[in-house]
Amino acid sequence: MSIRILFQAPSSSPEALVRAFMELSRILRNPDAAEPNEPVERLPTRAAFSLSLKTVARRRNIRCGDLVWTSESVNGEGVMSPLLSVRNLKAHLHSEEAPIKIVDGVTLDIKKGETVGLVGETGAGKTVTALSILGILQPLGQGKPLWNIDGEVLFEGKDLLKLPEEEMRKIRGTQIAFISQNPIPSLHPMDMVGHQTGEAVEEHKEIEESAIRKLVVEHLGKVEIRDAKKRYHHFRDQFSGGEGQRILIAMAVIRNPLLMIADEPTSALDVTVQRQILQLLKAMKERFKLSMLLITHDLGVIAEMSDSVYVMYAGKIVEHGDVQAIFNDSVHPFTTGLMAAIPRIDTRKSLFRFEGIPGEPPNPMHPISGCKFHPRCKYAVPLCSEEVPPLVAIAPKHSVSCWRIDATLSPERN
Ligand SMILES: Nc1ncnc2c1ncn2[C@@H]1O[C@H](COP(=O)(O)OP(=O)(O)OP(=O)(O)O)[C@@H](O)[C@H]1O
Ligand code: SF4
Ligand SMILES: [Mg+2]
Repeated sequence: MSIRILFQAPSSSPEALVRAFMELSRILRNPDAAEPNEPVERLPTRAAFSLSLKTVARRRNIRCGDLVWTSESVNGEGVMSPLLSVRNLKAHLHSEEAPIKIVDGVTLDIKKGETVGLVGETGAGKTVTALSILGILQPLGQGKPLWNIDGEVLFEGKDLLKLPEEEMRKIRGTQIAFISQNPIPSLHPMDMVGHQTGEAVEEHKEIEESAIRKLVVEHLGKVEIRDAKKRYHHFRDQFSGGEGQRILIAMAVIRNPLLMIADEPTSALDVTVQRQILQLLKAMKERFKLSMLLITHDLGVIAEMSDSVYVMYAGKIVEHGDVQAIFNDSVHPFTTGLMAAIPRIDTRKSLFRFEGIPGEPPNPMHPISGCKFHPRCKYAVPLCSEEVPPLVAIAPKHSVSCWRIDATLSPERN
């Protein structure tokens, strides 16, 4: 078995890539194991190499300048390309002094049919990541844009960040649907909910009004809005929070999208309704073969719904893995802290005991050097406040950004 390593070099020149590749080989201390898949002159900014799994497993703590690393297993026919591939995404807020780095180099992939969880504390930049992918961060401000977005958002191979607004609007209307954090304010107060639900179809497909109405009633029924035909004519204030969330799901799936981005789809709801909405999302995902980016700080929701999980801290991905890796074998001290904060009733030791993460989430107005978690981390050493740790693969489906992986992996850690 081999794994494929993708990396982004700071420069696209062939020389920089060759240097990066040589550096990679040197670090792995096995130059013979790594061979470029393509002739070096043709390598794009993002280059791929296949390496033996053993080689990578032997070297867990790989430090390689500011290269961005991800890895995935390769089958005999090559790597399955993701539906959405976000590369080194940055969303910086303009300010008179220095840009405020809200999203600071996020790299994530979503494959077809996969549910990817994005988890992190409040203010970590999860929603801003979603809005950047969707291209709906308002470049407001007087004369100057409020947001500066950089990186790549490859959707079916197209870089969404480079598309004109008109094309982006079509993609948002038909291929990527968004369920926002607050259902009721997302709906227009003066327009019938049924009409709003059908608008997406109206705008992008040539279908007669009566057919759209039928489709809307059918979809409202599918998301279990009772008496859907009658309630087509109701306004947003005549619906509860849970119903509002269901309507947003109906609005999302009626477009028959490839990708659904659900931002805290259940956080405003009580536990019983939460469960119903999760079941509904799951059913819709199966039925319509959707891929999903599920944003939440609820680890229970993540565990139940996701195939793979990205942990975000202060605008960066600090750990990525499948559910098993994140919940049972987490390595980054922030992730481990998140896991320890889940109340468990299965062990005597942790019965009714909450172990939180010390300190406060960082304020993006006050930048932190090196690893942004260092002021709260019990493993921190001087290097942690000096340099940003790269995200490195420690297993085929597990990457971590930490200088002290050896210490955090140690069986003596507490
Ligand atoms: N339009 C904006 N103008 C100024 N600051 C903003 C704006 N939008 C977001 N921010 C700031 O960016 C940071 C990240 O916000 P974001 O909404 O992405 O966090 P989040 O991870 O989604 O948190 P939560 O879990 O609370 O939803 C926060 O500090 C927030 O105050
Ligand atoms: S890099 Fe250092 S400060 Fe950051 S999580 Fe690892 S040990 Fe802690
Ligand atoms: Mg949010």
